Amino acid sequence: MEEDNKMNISRRGFLKTAALAGAALAMPAGLDKVFAAEPKQPETSRNDDTGVARIKGHRVLGTGKAAFEVSALGFGVMGMTYNRSQHPDKKQCIRLLHEAVDRGVTLFDTAIIYGPLTNENLAGEALSEFKGRISVTTKFGHEVIDGKGTGRQDSRPATIRRYCEESLRRLRLESLPMFYQHRADPNTPAEEVAATIADLMKEGKVQHWGMCEVSAETIRKAHAICPLTAIQSEYHLMHRLVEENGVLDTCRELGIGFVPYSPINRGFLGGCINEYTVFDPNNDNRQTLPRFQPEAMRANTRIVSALQAFGRTRGMTSAQVALGWLLQKAPWIVPIPGTTKLAHLEENLRTLEFSLSPEEWRELEDTVVAIPVVGDRYNAEQQKQVGR
Ligand SMILES: NC(=O)c1ccc[n+]([C@@H]2O[C@H](COP(=O)([O-])OP(=O)(O)OC[C@H]3O[C@@H](n4cnc5c(N)ncnc54)[C@H](OP(=O)(O)O)[C@@H]3O)[C@@H](O)[C@H]2O)c1
Repeated sequence: MEEDNKMNISRRGFLKTAALAGAALAMPAGLDKVFAAEPKQPETSRNDDTGVARIKGHRVLGTGKAAFEVSALGFGVMGMTYNRSQHPDKKQCIRLLHEAVDRGVTLFDTAIIYGPLTNENLAGEALSEFKGRISVTTKFGHEVIDGKGTGRQDSRPATIRRYCEESLRRLRLESLPMFYQHRADPNTPAEEVAATIADLMKEGKVQHWGMCEVSAETIRKAHAICPLTAIQSEYHLMHRLVEENGVLDTCRELGIGFVPYSPINRGFLGGCINEYTVFDPNNDNRQTLPRFQPEAMRANTRIVSALQAFGRTRGMTSAQVALGWLLQKAPWIVPIPGTTKLAHLEENLRTLEFSLSPEEWRELEDTVVAIPVVGDRYNAEQQKQVGR
């Protein structure tokens, strides 16, 4: 027993040292100059009193006036009310969100369109008591009329202002920690959106801002008017477009943070869903996505198996491999996995305890790249709204 304890303690020490060494190795050349707040300690370590995973370290999204310090992993609130099939009742969701706060998560992500409105209401009810200590980020852009999404985009200045006021009310805040444009509005130039946000910042209504799924060119235009804190786009081992379309390079160059959404590919890389999974027909957009059709999921299970095989000798689950791969890409990347389960929250946070060498991550990439991904990530309609 005592021997076991000694081993645990020395292993913990080893993990801490290894995490520090790994963080230094994983940082691409030049980033240390741009992102001064590289953690000086492992980003998660076990709390000796309780044994639960707690995030100790932080990451910084954005630079200069736009810098925003957050926990190294965030929490996507969306699935607690929207698009991820059945979910626990409100009381249980609130309890889980409080557990996340207790475990050091300071970045929670929601949006007006999630529900619509129900997700912001949940985040407001659960998290407003922690204001100042944690941040809830939200998103505008999808038009919502009388609580229903219309499928159109509206980022005209007056609409952004109205959405800002309404989000403040639902989130029970005086100032939004971060307001993202959810999808570009083809009728409102990025510069006009940026100027509206700059005004809201002067008025103290918004502290930071970001954009989702935009092109490198749009990022440059918007950033020149009002410095961006983060870009939020889909990024994970089955969708690496931001590495190819200049978005990540532009973020690196301009000192803008990056928040990968759906970092576990909507649960798929966690290995809990497969071709037999039945999605709630009224509350799950996965059934509309080509990549989540049974045939595609059957073929893509090879990728999950590859992550599981990679994790097996390292004591990692496939979800931890997926999250760890994103975290080692750059110290200014902060994934926001969503969950409705304490066990998954714990598992996701413990990702930060692992530190692998660049060679190991390359081995994983080489393995995964060799497996073709079957099915597009979005259908034609959803595809039209991204990359503008
Ligand atoms: N900007 C955008 O356009 C955009 C788009 C989509 C999402 N988002 C944001 O990104 C957040 C996360 O995205 P997401 O929910 O689409 O995808 P995700 O985080 O990749 O996956 C969430 C799903 O994975 C499951 N899961 C979580 N941890 C797991 C684990 N350790 N093992 C196995 N399964 C696990 C969850 O189920 P359980 O509940 O069973 O754990 C949930 O159904 C959202 O909450 C939202 O804030 C933004």
